[in-house]
Amino acid sequence: MIHRYEHRQGPHTLVLLHGTGGNEYDLIPLGLTLDDKAHLLSLRGNILENGMSRFFKRIAPGVFDLDSLHRETQNLINTIREAASKYAFDPEHVIAVGYSNGANIAASVLFHDATVFWHAILLQPMMPFKDLMLPDLSGTKMFIAAGHDDPMVPAAETRLLEQTLKDAGVEVSTFWHGYGHQLTQLSIDAAKQWLKQQTNELDRPL
Ligand code: MLT
Repeated sequence: MIHRYEHRQGPHTLVLLHGTGGNEYDLIPLGLTLDDKAHLLSLRGNILENGMSRFFKRIAPGVFDLDSLHRETQNLINTIREAASKYAFDPEHVIAVGYSNGANIAASVLFHDATVFWHAILLQPMMPFKDLMLPDLSGTKMFIAAGHDDPMVPAAETRLLEQTLKDAGVEVSTFWHGYGHQLTQLSIDAAKQWLKQQTNELDRPL
């Protein structure tokens, strides 16, 4: 997959996954804001919809093409693994940061493989699968940002995703804001605070 990698101090790596119409440059500033020490791996979705890049095909807004979602999820997993060995970052400490379509494929990765993401920040995510079980995800921590007025993601869908993740052992922190589907500064500030708590553990000398 087309991507951009920025090597920093580490030890953790943020995998940045853009929303529909974005590219591998879009979320680099977000990655730097969230954690200026983390390595950044920023990917561009393989799918083009009317000239807009996405991570998988959709049949209509909010209605996913599941074959495409499964295939592209596997492509993403392979790309992250290959990148870890090519750029020599620690595959055990990879944190997903996805917005909208990017958050949806990050959530899909969790259904496919419990070992790819250490933690995840999902900004305005949807429930990717209604009838698949998550593997045991104990030890994974997740931050979700959701909007009370999000026309794409009803509050009930966010709550279902939250509960499904909790049932699989994920420690979930959900941040609700009063806006729509957009990425808000409030969400970014809350995600940054949350991430600092998770990565402080790693930075402490053993
Ligand atoms: C999706 O297709 O992933 C969702 O509809 C969100 C979006 O991309 O707008």
